[in-house]
Amino acid sequence: MNRREWLKRTGILGTGLILSNLVSAHTLLFTNRALDFVKEDFGKDFLWGVASSAYQSEGAWNLDNKGESTWDYFSRKKGAIERGENADVAADFYHRYEEDIELIKSMNFKVFRFSISWPRIIPSGTGDVSAKGIKFYHKVIDKCISEGIEPWITLYHWDLPQILEEQGGWANRKIIDWFKEYVEVVSKEYAGKVKNWMVINEQLSFIGNGYMNGIFAPGDKKLGKFMKAVHYSVISQSEGGRIIRKNVPNANVGTTFVTTYVEPINQEKKNIEAAKRMDAIMNRLFIEPCLGLGYPEDTVPMLKKMKKLYEKGDEELMPFDFDFIGVQYYFRTVAQSSIMPGMRAKEITAEQRGVPRNEMNGEIYPEGLYHQLKFFDSYKGIKNLIVTENGTCVPDVLENGRVHDTLRIQYFKDHLAAVLKAKREGVKVSGYFVWSPTDNFEWDKGYRTRFGLVYVDFQTLNRYMKDSGFWFKEFLK
Ligand code: FCB
Repeated sequence: MNRREWLKRTGILGTGLILSNLVSAHTLLFTNRALDFVKEDFGKDFLWGVASSAYQSEGAWNLDNKGESTWDYFSRKKGAIERGENADVAADFYHRYEEDIELIKSMNFKVFRFSISWPRIIPSGTGDVSAKGIKFYHKVIDKCISEGIEPWITLYHWDLPQILEEQGGWANRKIIDWFKEYVEVVSKEYAGKVKNWMVINEQLSFIGNGYMNGIFAPGDKKLGKFMKAVHYSVISQSEGGRIIRKNVPNANVGTTFVTTYVEPINQEKKNIEAAKRMDAIMNRLFIEPCLGLGYPEDTVPMLKKMKKLYEKGDEELMPFDFDFIGVQYYFRTVAQSSIMPGMRAKEITAEQRGVPRNEMNGEIYPEGLYHQLKFFDSYKGIKNLIVTENGTCVPDVLENGRVHDTLRIQYFKDHLAAVLKAKREGVKVSGYFVWSPTDNFEWDKGYRTRFGLVYVDFQTLNRYMKDSGFWFKEFLK
């Protein structure tokens, strides 16, 4: 089924949205004429938010006692980041958080999900706590509350203290204790003000790319390290959940998983099997142990080796009963059988297939979000889902203070339609957060790919609301 057929079949979009492909977003702004749904269709308690992370937006990498993170270190390695860029300054959220929170408010969002930088709080990874680091996040939280925006904290969005990486990082079992110490500090400190918490952002991304593909910090390519990091992060995540539960009265405790809709390139048996294995790694590897189901070794036999890493009691430590699961969706993945060890599957890229894609070559495939919400919803142990990240990078051009990001608006319309379709079919999805409020530093891509609803001129650090920001302002009014 092609995209247009799917849109038709959803019944939500009807002709309006297809028409909207033809009409410029400009005409649509402020009218919503071409949309067949309104905010109220999602329900009055549905959460509308934006999401960002510390390393990608704060800057101030060495101010006020902050310790060095793995990304501060890695971004200085030759060839690690496109054009040799780093996030020393990024969007300068550290100094401009007030303006950014006011912008979030002006777009009518009610939730701001941001992450805390571990090395800003505990500069040496363990031990002394930085009073200045603690104070900074109090100011961010207080500003949110004073603007009527709910702060949602992610504890770990990939900026590990470098000093801990030098002792093996996530591949050293000691990470469980290091992480627990950090979570104790942060959850106790902000317990009185913050009720909504996410323990870890996308284990697969930072562990797969950091320890196996080598494109993220720390830049390793070692299967052994990858396996250890998987297991220790699974335990750390659930232990983190338990600590928040203990320290924060009435906490809403969640965590987030990256997800992609995996399909075989064709219906040949070997490719169908390859897609199943890829799906197990990309979508099941972390959620299943978290739900007490263990690793998906039935589909990927190599994962039987994980047992070698188990210590007594691990099986009890691996699961945690999260209040919600954050689903983060960007693209579809098409798989073909291959000789690659382990997964024995390879990706046929969006570029190879000649399908619509974003500036990072991820396929734009809104129905994938619908499928992935259905997929997570089918696990009995999951109580509540929130789309904690969704967004896209398109070639933004700033002209006379405006950015006419028509493609991004279309992306949101299509993906919101997918969420609504799932919700109408009974999927327990209760929120949608846009990645990201402002443009920021996009990991290995540096500043090339922009995801913001607000454009950042990285020379002047001035902010300009894009048409997509104006679109949300109107939609969420
Ligand atoms: C997600 C990450 C987030 C951002 C977006 C584009 O996978 O969680 O930090 O990079 O992709």
